[in-house]
Amino acid sequence: MTRVQVQLGERSYSIDIGDGSLSSAGGVLTSLGAGHRCAVVTDANVGPLYAGVVTGSLEGAGFAVETVTVPAGERSKSVEQLARLWNAFVALDLDRDSTVVALGGGVVGDLAGFAAATYMRGIRCVQIPTTMLACVDSSVGGKTAIDLDAGKNLVGAFHQPAAVLIDPATLRTLPKRQLAAGLAEVIKYGVIMDAPFFERLERDIEALLALKSDVTVEAIGRCCELKARVTSADERESGLRAILNYGHTVGHALEAASGYEGLLHGEAVALGMLAAGRVAEALGMTGPDVTSRQEALLARAGLPTSLPMPHRDAGGVLDVMRHDKKSRGGKITMVLAVRIGEVKVVRDVKPELAAKALETLRGG
Ligand SMILES: NC(=O)c1ccc[n+]([C@@H]2O[C@H](COP(=O)([O-])OP(=O)(O)OC[C@H]3O[C@@H](n4cnc5c(N)ncnc54)[C@H](O)[C@@H]3O)[C@@H](O)[C@H]2O)c1
Ligand SMILES: [Zn+2]
Repeated sequence: MTRVQVQLGERSYSIDIGDGSLSSAGGVLTSLGAGHRCAVVTDANVGPLYAGVVTGSLEGAGFAVETVTVPAGERSKSVEQLARLWNAFVALDLDRDSTVVALGGGVVGDLAGFAAATYMRGIRCVQIPTTMLACVDSSVGGKTAIDLDAGKNLVGAFHQPAAVLIDPATLRTLPKRQLAAGLAEVIKYGVIMDAPFFERLERDIEALLALKSDVTVEAIGRCCELKARVTSADERESGLRAILNYGHTVGHALEAASGYEGLLHGEAVALGMLAAGRVAEALGMTGPDVTSRQEALLARAGLPTSLPMPHRDAGGVLDVMRHDKKSRGGKITMVLAVRIGEVKVVRDVKPELAAKALETLRGG
């Protein structure tokens, strides 16, 4: 088992990564001194595959466990599902010593994490992520949220997990497209802060796609370490944490312009990274080699490197960026790579420049 320690004073926690580690859930809760009762929150895809192993381990360690299942998909990050979880926790007699175990992708992690953050003013949450995105991104860092009709993640809380348990073997049942989408975030970490890791990915990306055990554990561990380092230094997102948004300014705009349909988040981020590369080139910050290395690696990971959407949607991207709440004086903030392994936050990029960069990604 590989362990990554997240240093946050009293709220420090560990991330354990290893094939078969689902069955150590009971041991993890015991070592936390968790109270008798716990609720495993999962979704309709993940529950039938993995909830049995997790609840079996918890029961074996003496815990009273109930499973609450939400429908799979982003729509479950809703006020309705949140209220359903709160009411289920009451019905299960969860108290301040109880634990919510979030078993699933980022949707379950964000929803169950927010339910735990708010139930009785906050109870313990243990994250057991089962998508690549959740393993390397959403389960670490303490952000939890639900969506409103008006937008994604509009209501949420910072609530650090008490522990994170990652079993990379669960990724074998993940649809390949979802796996690739998660790898966009993995590649992102290399670009923003770790050139040697990026080089290892250049060597091993096929092994990672095939979920070769040692390569997968190492890559997930490295991403968790990097995210932990950034989020410990900037828990509430005032500065440094912004570099994690590499590829996300244009990525989010692409997602919004396509109505969150067609492109997965990681696919939009991959295109956003390449657009950022072209912007950095246009501003004279880098040469084209920095972008082309990212392009080659993203393509090998099975991610799109040219714009698959119709022209009018690409026009919509510019509108979204212009009306971004975070834009200042009509300019947007972008994270741009100076070289592989180092980025700068640039606050006065014209949205037109980003849109033009995106246009260069249009397939022939
Ligand atoms: N809190 C954060 O810091 C943070 C960061 C990034 C993203 N997010 C959030 O994460 C969410 C996206 O997460 P996601 O990409 O994991 O999506 P997801 O949770 O919807 O999972 C994707 C799909 O894979 C299925 N699935 C999950 N694990 C599986 C497995 N092992 N085998 C088979 N199927 C499996 C799910 O049921 C779902 O259908 C978004 O809501 C986003 O806002 C949060
Ligand atoms: Zn992301």
